[in-house]
Amino acid sequence: MSSQTYLSGLFSLDGRVALVTGGSSGIGRAVAGALARAGARVVVVARRERQLAETVDELVADECDAGWVSADLRTREGVRAAAEEAASVFGEPDILVNSAGINLRPPLGELGDDVWDAVMAVNLEAPFLLGQRFGPGMAERGFGRIIHISSQQAHRAFVQSGAYGVSKGGLESLARSQAEAWSPHGVTCNTLVPGVVLTPLNARLSADPAKVAELAARTMVGRNGLAEDFAGAAVFLASGASAYITGQSLFVDGGLSVH
Ligand SMILES: NC(=O)c1ccc[n+]([C@@H]2O[C@H](COP(=O)([O-])OP(=O)(O)OC[C@H]3O[C@@H](n4cnc5c(N)ncnc54)[C@H](OP(=O)(O)O)[C@@H]3O)[C@@H](O)[C@H]2O)c1
Repeated sequence: MSSQTYLSGLFSLDGRVALVTGGSSGIGRAVAGALARAGARVVVVARRERQLAETVDELVADECDAGWVSADLRTREGVRAAAEEAASVFGEPDILVNSAGINLRPPLGELGDDVWDAVMAVNLEAPFLLGQRFGPGMAERGFGRIIHISSQQAHRAFVQSGAYGVSKGGLESLARSQAEAWSPHGVTCNTLVPGVVLTPLNARLSADPAKVAELAARTMVGRNGLAEDFAGAAVFLASGASAYITGQSLFVDGGLSVH
């Protein structure tokens, strides 16, 4: 057997359909690209059409199958409509990646209901609703992969974690509940935990070289994360190779959390 054949047996996503929320930017975009290049037909979901179209154009130019749906995941109706539209592109997804997220930063003492509601809606409720929509179908078909993107702030308070850290803690618990519900039927549910990744989400931070260096020094690898650092872990968790791994949180953080 060639090494190519062996590796394909473990990791190929040929024939799979993936839905990636937040797939038009940062970590989600890198994950969508990785899943598509590993063989999946990928639908990316976010609000801004130009970023969505650019992402898909890049993948199609690379001979991948990709499509996009513009939707606001902040409302239940928005999530439900997005789910139906996304499923109509290539069919029901086998792989669901929840990368869409927002980080509004008022300290907890100054945080109003509106910020709480917005953060919970996008970061926690949308992944819950999408899981409810697609998890049972994956279980019925006997294969599924749900991958959430949480944060080190699920594990410790850091630069005003406020509502954000709470939403991400809930997200990792959601992965465990989903794992309990659907793993007996071939659906694994796991979380990738980023440390500090230089993406548009923290553009303000990236613009401060001293802060960037200070955070890099807190890792073991000696640099902050890049969106591309998530490609391999995402393909692994989406593939057949990870069939016996479920309910887990995998830190992709250069050792930040253990330093
Ligand atoms: N970067 C980091 O250091 C870091 C660290 C820990 C965790 N994370 C987590 O990793 C995930 C990805 O973050 P990132 O750094 O890649 O951020 P990013 O570059 O800002 O991407 C966020 C994505 O989510 C989409 N999105 C935001 N609000 C949405 C809404 N209401 N409806 C639909 N889509 C929405 C955005 O597109 P539109 O704006 O066009 O809708 C975009 O595609 C997030 O869950 C974040 O919390 C990031």
